[in-house]
Amino acid sequence: MTELTEKIARRRTFAIISHPDAGKTTLTEKLLLYGGALQLAGSVRAKKNQRNTTSDWMDIERERGISISSTVLQFTYRDYCINLLDTPGHRDFSEDTYRVLTAVDSVIMVIDAAKGIEERTRKLFEICRLRNIPIFTFMNKLDRPAKNPLELLDELESVLGIGGFPVTWPLGDGPDFQGVYDRLAKELHLFSNRGKGSARAAEQITGATDPRISELMHPDLYQEWLAQIELLSLAGETFDHEKIRQGALTPVFFGSGINNFGVQLLLNYFVEHAIPPQARKSSLGLIQPEREEFSGFVFKIQANMDPNHRDSLSFLRVCSGVFRKDMTVPNPRGGGRPLRLSYPQRLFGQERESVEEAYPGDIVGLVSHGNFRIGDTLTNIPQLVYNEIPRFPPEVFAYLHNCSPSKYKQFREGLEQLLNEGVIQVFYLHNSQQKTALLGAVGQLQFEVVQHRLETEYAANVRLEAAPFTQVRWLSPDFDPASLQDVYLGSNVRLAQDSDEVYVLLFPDEWSVNYFCEKNPGFHLLKYSSLQGETI
Ligand code: G4P
Repeated sequence: MTELTEKIARRRTFAIISHPDAGKTTLTEKLLLYGGALQLAGSVRAKKNQRNTTSDWMDIERERGISISSTVLQFTYRDYCINLLDTPGHRDFSEDTYRVLTAVDSVIMVIDAAKGIEERTRKLFEICRLRNIPIFTFMNKLDRPAKNPLELLDELESVLGIGGFPVTWPLGDGPDFQGVYDRLAKELHLFSNRGKGSARAAEQITGATDPRISELMHPDLYQEWLAQIELLSLAGETFDHEKIRQGALTPVFFGSGINNFGVQLLLNYFVEHAIPPQARKSSLGLIQPEREEFSGFVFKIQANMDPNHRDSLSFLRVCSGVFRKDMTVPNPRGGGRPLRLSYPQRLFGQERESVEEAYPGDIVGLVSHGNFRIGDTLTNIPQLVYNEIPRFPPEVFAYLHNCSPSKYKQFREGLEQLLNEGVIQVFYLHNSQQKTALLGAVGQLQFEVVQHRLETEYAANVRLEAAPFTQVRWLSPDFDPASLQDVYLGSNVRLAQDSDEVYVLLFPDEWSVNYFCEKNPGFHLLKYSSLQGETI
């Protein structure tokens, strides 16, 4: 094994996805605790608390400063080098959240066991599904009354369409939650020292038929539990490592993040079965991470961190070879001088550290001055382009009005720049008298950012007006608007073009999308459109 292949084999790059309040922050803290990175655990919680109290723009600015610092948490656990990427949630949910998922190799999905699969989880899962990445499921909050675990397994199948293989199975829930049974090792982990805290949970390992268990729970419940274990081994999914690697089967764990119950089992199993960085699709076919030449792509840009300078931090995911400080690469936008990749940084909690070298799976922050755009490929391999970042379908729309005609130039320039940075998407209605920009975003915060930045950085004077759409579908690149004559469009459905002049249809709601499809069988609608115009 060469040094590079050894480094790659040890890397696990992942994100945690969940609906707000399911326990993502808590689980992150506990994973850091097991990884021995205690000081980081504190900063994760501080960040969250600060987020919850934000209410106006100044706070958002501050919050941005904080969320940057925890965009990536790197720590070691056993022999593994773990990169945990933050998926912004709550108020700062935006296209960035989706983009992060293009830079990871696997995902842990946290579900509140009392609530089951919630909306945000479903959406984030869908993005992971597009890339067929392995998904590990943690059913959290078993210390509270939870849904029947069999019902939770069914939900994975019926709501997400993925089979679940329970690696662990809970013994009771709520006040009766005693532990989890590791079905692969055939070991029952009984927990004690319930209570919040940073201590690892004390546990005893025993067999499923240990007579002590009857003392811990009602005999009827115990018999029922034994029957469930039996049923799972007879009728449940079988453990299939290959299906897990391909994202077709999710290993399921039960526990309580806040009490550290079941977290270490999840982590141990995760590092052993999640995949290291894999070959990635590119314009030159699959690029193996072991390939000697460095390559990577920019998946997130955090702009204007210092309001006095127009600098930004571009986040690069290393895909192959070794990234070295001060290396030069051709300008990904073509022409011009090669770019020197100076000041690369690794972000540890609140601190930044200069990076000398980084390997496939690692994330590097590059200080830049508008040099990069989201989706850019950085490499010396000629003609290589990673086509990883699609346009994610916006769900909120607003017209952007320029209120000062005399400042039109500033307005256009600012909007152009924000579009380039991927802060927002823009559409123009077909056959509309006024050429008003229709902005599309995944989260409301993106609008606030646009308005604030246009006003403060470009001295433009703008107004946003809510638009009555929640769904967009792309049409094929060769779509001819004349062909719409033969199509039943429905009221409130509008034809528009995106910033690449690709046609889209805008719908008021999902119902009208379904109705449109019913009325026009054979008409092809695409949910995603990549920046390079390719569909995924
Ligand atoms: P999020 O990042 O997914 O939004 O969730 P977070 O971890 O912040 O957890 C949301 C709430 O759920 C928090 O309570 C947290 O303490 C609680 N929680 C997380 N894991 C568990 C668990 O295993 N069991 C129980 N019972 N609760 C859990 P909070 O009251 O909003 O915040 P805090 O005052 O506890 O910090």
